[in-house]
Amino acid sequence: MSQKSKIDLSTKIGDVTFKNPITVASGTFGNTDEYEPYVDFGELGAFVTKTITLNPRVGNPMPRIFETPSGMLNAIGLENKGLEDYIENKLPYLSKIKTNLITSIAGKDASELAGMAKRLDSCNEVSAIELNLSCPNIRDKNVKVAKHAEEVERVVKEVRQCTNKLLITKLSPEMDFFMEVAELSVKSGTDALSMINTIKGMAINVNTLKPMLSNVTGGLSGPAVRPIALRYVYEVKQHLDIPVIGMGGVASWRDAMEFIIAGAHMVATGTSNFVNPRAPQDCVEGIENYMQEKGYSSMKDIRGKLQTSV
Ligand SMILES: Cc1cc2nc3c(=O)[nH]c(=O)nc-3n(C[C@H](O)[C@H](O)[C@H](O)COP(=O)(O)O)c2cc1C
Repeated sequence: MSQKSKIDLSTKIGDVTFKNPITVASGTFGNTDEYEPYVDFGELGAFVTKTITLNPRVGNPMPRIFETPSGMLNAIGLENKGLEDYIENKLPYLSKIKTNLITSIAGKDASELAGMAKRLDSCNEVSAIELNLSCPNIRDKNVKVAKHAEEVERVVKEVRQCTNKLLITKLSPEMDFFMEVAELSVKSGTDALSMINTIKGMAINVNTLKPMLSNVTGGLSGPAVRPIALRYVYEVKQHLDIPVIGMGGVASWRDAMEFIIAGAHMVATGTSNFVNPRAPQDCVEGIENYMQEKGYSSMKDIRGKLQTSV
C-alpha cells in the first residue's frame, strides 16, 4: 500500500461523511451537466447547487457580471426554474454524481423556506440543505435576505423543524452583528455554517456614467475577498463549536489549506471555477500531496491548528 493511500481526507459533519473537504460554492457551477467535460464532481467531497426558490425567477436584467481587479461583481438575482423543476429535471442528473448533494434554497419567509425544506426532506438524493439567507443582489420581496439575528433565528428554527437532513446556514458579512447571527443560527439548530457570501460592491463606466451592472450594485467575490473570508472563518471558530464550510476567493490548494488551518471542515471554490473549472479537483490533489509531505494522516491532524503564539 502506498503512503498516499493511507491519508484520510474525509471529514464528517453531523451524520454525513464527506470523502474529502472540497466542494463548490453555490451558483458557480450551475445545476446540470454543462461542466461535465471539464471536472469530475464525483471526485469532490460534495456538490452544492445553485440556489433554488419555490417559484421560478428570471433574475436581474443584463449586464449582471463584471470583472474587477482580483475578483468579480455579480448580480444574477437568483435566476432558477423553481423547486418542482429542480426535483423533476435536475435531481435525476445530480443524483448520479458520486458525492454528497447539497441543495441550496432561498425563500420569501420562514414558512416558505420550511415548506421547501419539508419537500426536499423526502428526496433521498439530497444529503444536506444549505439555507441561503444572504444573497446581496435581491431587491424584490420574494426572497428573504436576513439582515438581523432575530430574522435568521426565526428562519433556522422553523426550517429545522421540517427536516432531518443536515442543515447548513449560509451567512454574509453584510449581516448586522455577524457573530450574534452565527451564534443564534447554531442555537436554533443549524448543523453547520457556510461563509462567506459575496460582499456588496459596484463599478461605474466613466464614459456612459452608468453602473457596470443593471442592478447598480453586485456581490464581490474572488481572491479580493479571501482575507476577509478567512478572518470570518477564523473568528467564528474561535467563538463557536460548529463545523464551518469556508469560501471566498479559494483558487488553489494553498488557499483551501488556509481555511482548514483556520478551522474549516470543508472549503468551496467559487469564482475560480470560471477561470479553471478543475480548480476544486486540483485542490483535492494538492491537499493530499501536502498532507503526505507533512506527514499528516487525517484532516483532524491539521484542521484548526493555527499557531498564533509567537
Ligand atoms: C456568479 C455567481 C453566482 C452566485 N450565486 C450564488 C447562489 O445562487 N447562491 C449562493 O448562496 N451564493 C451564490 N454565490 C456566492 C458564492 O457561492 C460564494 O459564496 C462567493 O462567491 C464567495 O466565494 P468565491 O470568492 O470563491 O466565489 C454566487 C457567486 C457568483 C460569483
